[in-house]
Amino acid sequence: MTNFISSQPKLQTGTFFIAVWGCQMNVYDADRLRDLLSASGYAEVFDPAQAKVVVLITCAVRAKAEDKVFNQIASWQHQGQINEDTVIALGGCVGAELAEQIIALDKSVSIVFGPRTAHRLPQMIDRFCASHLPVVDVTADALQKFDALPDPGLRGPSAFITIMEGCSNKCTYCIVPYTRGAEESRPVQDILHECLNHLAQGALELHLLGQNVNSYCGLDENGEKTSFASLLYEIAALPGLKRLRFTTSNPMDFTDDVVRAIGDLEVIADSIHIPVQSGSDRILQLMHRRYTAQSYLELVTKLRKVRPQVSISSDFIVGFPGETEEDFAQTLQLVEAVKFDQSFSFIYSERPGTPAAKMTDKVPKEIKQERIYKLQDLLEELSAQYSHSYLGTTQEVLVEGFSRKDCTELKARSSANRIVVFKGSEKLIGKMVTVKITGVMAHTLKGELLS
Ligand code: SAH
Ligand code: SF4
Ligand code: F3S
Repeated sequence: MTNFISSQPKLQTGTFFIAVWGCQMNVYDADRLRDLLSASGYAEVFDPAQAKVVVLITCAVRAKAEDKVFNQIASWQHQGQINEDTVIALGGCVGAELAEQIIALDKSVSIVFGPRTAHRLPQMIDRFCASHLPVVDVTADALQKFDALPDPGLRGPSAFITIMEGCSNKCTYCIVPYTRGAEESRPVQDILHECLNHLAQGALELHLLGQNVNSYCGLDENGEKTSFASLLYEIAALPGLKRLRFTTSNPMDFTDDVVRAIGDLEVIADSIHIPVQSGSDRILQLMHRRYTAQSYLELVTKLRKVRPQVSISSDFIVGFPGETEEDFAQTLQLVEAVKFDQSFSFIYSERPGTPAAKMTDKVPKEIKQERIYKLQDLLEELSAQYSHSYLGTTQEVLVEGFSRKDCTELKARSSANRIVVFKGSEKLIGKMVTVKITGVMAHTLKGELLS
């Protein structure tokens, strides 16, 4: 890993504001950009009106997500929050997806970068300030970014670590392989170095990120490929680590050695996110998801055998082209059979350039709407059942900060990824404590401090 501060030129000072949309990988990228811009002499501000550079880390996964960034720029302009002197740097997945087109779409954007070129942002700002001509730079080798970024700064008790970039699965509906590029795994030593850095700064929880973590195959010190299960064992052995999470797991690559690791390593949290997308084998095939509803159920059974209390969450897409009532009924059946906790569901959104965009058998809007309500009602009901099952139990929770609704309360996260609020002193922030669950609210649990 290169030492950024000594190897990079000193840049002009200024202020920056960052807005982030999309998945946890964007949150990670935004945090690393904060480190980079700070090391380059920029100071972060929390109001776009005070910023010389406004950085937008965007998501293109659904049309609605993509629209958000352009609506946000228009709204800031309308409110006088940004003006013609503000340097707007649009990065993330929309940057990579639309590249040059963005400048034509929105003349106020000065710089376009992508998930792979975030590390070059300070140089792009310099180039723009010198020439006042738009800068578009979206292509780079996937792993260059990680080598060029400074060591991560303080992130609090829980830290994200991207272990791989991109995705090569090409699920037919998904734009991610075109925005983040082909899958590449970071070397084991780089990941361990980053984990140790966070632990040394007081983190107790590490959360590994990738679009398909189960296909991780980074090289070890001897240049040998390392499996995701082996990586889990190595990270679990790091001193000071209290909890380990990972997202996202594609069911097709969820091998038995990872199941075994979950059984062996208590430090792995009781919550595993395994997006199934649909319960119909026909739709799964059209989506190019290479598993069946049956193999998914078998995976869940194996996981519950090694970890009976594990909470399984998922993502669902409804209204994929050609989805019939029967296909949708199979999704509901799978949800009932697995009893998912805290899942996400989306109406299928056509993404330009993806194979599914060419499929003709579109599901009408009203039917998609009807199906999503049905699915969400069922998912909510199951989640509520889980919430009630925690009443009276004792949970170890990691305190993340103050509750947003009531600043006299603390907000913490349980192993099963439940938010628990309880009365306690500020000194507990960043610590692991034991609480008794005393109440259930819409999406959070109420607790009482025991230790
Ligand atoms: N790599 C992860 C998913 C990343 S995208 C995986 O394979 O599980 C997060 C979620 O967005 C997906 O799981 C899917 O449910 C949803 N999604 C992706 N593309 C979509 C689209 N075109 N329309 C609607 N939802 C989509
Ligand atoms: Fe998209 Fe599929 Fe890759 Fe997930 S695994 S990012 S859904 S292509
Ligand atoms: Fe969105 Fe890109 Fe993540 S499209 S979901 S920000 S990988």
